[in-house]
Amino acid sequence: MIAVYPGSFDPVTSGHFDIIRRSSDLYESVVVLVALNSDKSPMFTVTERVHMLVAACSGLNNVRIDTLSNGLLVNHVTMVHARVIIKGLRAVSDFEYEFQMALLNKRLAPEVETVFLMASAEHSFLSSSIVKEIGRLGGDFTGLVPSSVVETLTRKFETMSTGNVLAGD
Ligand code: PNS
Repeated sequence: MIAVYPGSFDPVTSGHFDIIRRSSDLYESVVVLVALNSDKSPMFTVTERVHMLVAACSGLNNVRIDTLSNGLLVNHVTMVHARVIIKGLRAVSDFEYEFQMALLNKRLAPEVETVFLMASAEHSFLSSSIVKEIGRLGGDFTGLVPSSVVETLTRKFETMSTGNVLAGD
């Protein structure tokens, strides 16, 4: 069975990677889908996010990275012949939004199931926003993201802070 794990992945965190790894144990094939969340303005381009995911998932043979530039998630899910959408849940605060999305997706495509995996305890505090905040402020995000993306992220945050200095920010 094919499962799709959609998200912004701006950037991929160790929490995301944990869900990807566990999904890859459960399903024959997992498509990690970099999708647009119309409520968010991403820091990283789609290409940068895909590259980070490709680096992070290089050891997982049944995982591939794909993008959804426009259109509905459920249309992409059915197009790749998947039956399952994977979502990670960290805390009760995630639940209301995820519940709404799952019900909406169910209405749009009744044959597609949303399966929730609970975040591991050590990742329950972690989010892409936290990683970006730490990176912007020059903190150490080692361990919060897959080790293969630390260098790319460090370079990005360095470039951003140089840009800010040049812009007098
Ligand atoms: O990591 P995020 O930002 O919580 O992921 C949200 C995402 C990208 C999965 C969601 O916004 C989405 O599914 N976008 C695709 C467009 C779509 O189908 N929207 C309706 C979903 S109910």
